[in-house]
Amino acid sequence: MAEIKLINVAKTYGKGRKAKNAVHDLSYTIDDGTFVSLLGPSGCGKSTTLNMIAGLEDISAGEILIDGHRVDDLEPDKRDLAFVFQDYALYPHMSVFENIAFGLRMRKVPKAEIHTRVTDAARRLDIEHVLSNRPRALSGGQRQRVALARAIARRPAVFLFDEPLSNLDALLRDQTRSELKMLHAELGATSVYVTHDQEEAMTLSDKIAVMSRGKLEQFGTPFEVYHQPATEFVASFVGKPRMNLFTAAKLASGHYGLSGTHFTVDVPAVQAPEMRIGLRPEECDLRVPSSGEAAHGTVRTVEPLGNVSDVILDVGANQFLSRVPGFGTFQPGDEVVIDTQRARVHCFDIKTGLRI
Ligand SMILES: Nc1ncnc2c1ncn2[C@@H]1O[C@H](COP(=O)(O)OP(=O)(O)O)[C@@H](O)[C@H]1O
Ligand SMILES: [Mg+2]
Repeated sequence: MAEIKLINVAKTYGKGRKAKNAVHDLSYTIDDGTFVSLLGPSGCGKSTTLNMIAGLEDISAGEILIDGHRVDDLEPDKRDLAFVFQDYALYPHMSVFENIAFGLRMRKVPKAEIHTRVTDAARRLDIEHVLSNRPRALSGGQRQRVALARAIARRPAVFLFDEPLSNLDALLRDQTRSELKMLHAELGATSVYVTHDQEEAMTLSDKIAVMSRGKLEQFGTPFEVYHQPATEFVASFVGKPRMNLFTAAKLASGHYGLSGTHFTVDVPAVQAPEMRIGLRPEECDLRVPSSGEAAHGTVRTVEPLGNVSDVILDVGANQFLSRVPGFGTFQPGDEVVIDTQRARVHCFDIKTGLRI
């Protein structure tokens, strides 16, 4: 059982003029038994945050509490956590069994208990048949499973993962991702998972901490970060294809429009003269203009994906993406109207980037 609480946590690397703030003022609570992803682009401070929770890095300010107790001065091996890294860090001269058992032997777990735990972890990860092999005889996917089994055999209160699937090829990554989700449902241990892949974060997590440049942008459920992004950054980072975002000006009609075009969006409540508008490609339909109606844009290219097609439009000086069903009916050069009836319109302050 473990709840992890971060209170105004910050990390500065280096001193004086060379000091670099890697993370600023992080405050959130990871509830006991939940799976939380730290999501953001490379360099935004995800690993630094995880390493501070693990005790591998000191914190420069703030507090970290596990189950209400301050742990910032507690050594990593006193924190009841197991860490799974991107590189598997297996001992090459030991068998798979011994690799999984190593941490347990260090902790003086009785021999029979070690045997039970190793075989149980190996069974869960489908690597029972390679327990006597050396790591170099295994595929990359199997090695990653050994690293996961080693963590599971520890039976820790908290699992910490740092991009554990990044070295796997696409198919294996998807498969291992599903297995991780099932494993979490079975084991129920608090898990903190670092990734730059929004799809991994969306599919696995109870909550996502979206980070940019060392700051927390939003801490919310996958539903919240997708449907109610707190900032323009979250809007642009979560969701594939990327949300269309553009600067729109208030028109005499009360609608917001894209300058130099006939494309307008209905945003009743907002008064700002200009703001950032976001529309998800999968929520915008396209149609042929009715007679006398002005087109919004021109089809530049169509990318069929099978079940859907991505239609890229020129709308004035902007590019706009609409995801339409099937192979669609549009051709490059077609003049179209963007139908935003179905769309949720996301509005952001032009200066602060905060959701309006
Ligand atoms: N040991 C270190 N010394 C100095 N700067 C570091 C160190 N580790 C990370 N950083 C810097 O801190 C920032 C955050 O890094 P990191 O937490 O590794 O990001 P992420 O895991 O999100 O890619 C980066 O700018 C990185 O260069
Ligand atoms: Mg990292």
